[in-house]
Amino acid sequence: MSRAGLDKNPREVAEMFDGVAEGYDRTNSVMTLGFDRRWREWSRRVLDARPGEKVLDLAAGTAVSTVEYGESGAWCVAADFSLGMLRGGAKRPVPKVAADALHLPFRDGAFDAVTVSFGLRNFEDTEAALREMARVVRPGGRLVVCEVSSPTFGPFRAVYKRHLLKVLPVVAKRVSSNPVAYNYLAESMATWPDQRALGEIVARAGWDDVAWFNLTGGLVALHRAVKPLD
Ligand SMILES: C[S@@+](CC[C@H](N)C(=O)[O-])C[C@H]1O[C@@H](n2cnc3c(N)ncnc32)[C@H](O)[C@@H]1O
Repeated sequence: MSRAGLDKNPREVAEMFDGVAEGYDRTNSVMTLGFDRRWREWSRRVLDARPGEKVLDLAAGTAVSTVEYGESGAWCVAADFSLGMLRGGAKRPVPKVAADALHLPFRDGAFDAVTVSFGLRNFEDTEAALREMARVVRPGGRLVVCEVSSPTFGPFRAVYKRHLLKVLPVVAKRVSSNPVAYNYLAESMATWPDQRALGEIVARAGWDDVAWFNLTGGLVALHRAVKPLD
């Protein structure tokens, strides 16, 4: 059993996800009470990919999100550095590439859009990863980040941060193949920037027109941005 630390050492993060890959999709649905499906649907709508476009789904894990984006008719590729997670999605009929978010094996401007769901929080350097994502997207191309965020209703936010995050590892003990990894999940959620702060990081990384939408009362937020035209 392994878990990563909050320094997000890439080797430890990859090993941790290899350890949760078995049954990841089921655990995810249980832990999110099935809301994950709606969040993915919203991400697809906000990305608004078109047939003929090329979309990079980064930190795609078992490629559930990649399949969702594929519904749009765009050509979507799943990239992740955990071979265990990619293998977990082997049956999903989308192209899969082993790749580290900080050193993507794609040429400049290769994609029309890049997206990352519940992955950005795990990268060792958030801003550097967002810059690398901008590199592989064409000028005028889009970014959509779906990530846990900060509940908008103050009293709930306090309870959520103080108590609910502690419940996650307890539930994970029953359903996950690597329950200690869910201690990391709770800690990384508690220390993650809120909507505005993440929007500022996205802008600092060189993206324009940054906007965000709260889903499920801000438990999750979608950040959208556009790569400036040259
Ligand atoms: C919580 S899972 C999310 C998977 C999927 N996007 C989803 O929505 O179900 C986070 C994923 O990020 C991947 N990941 C973390 N750091 C990464 C990095 N530096 N490069 C590529 N993938 C990374 C992990 O291997 C893992 O599959």
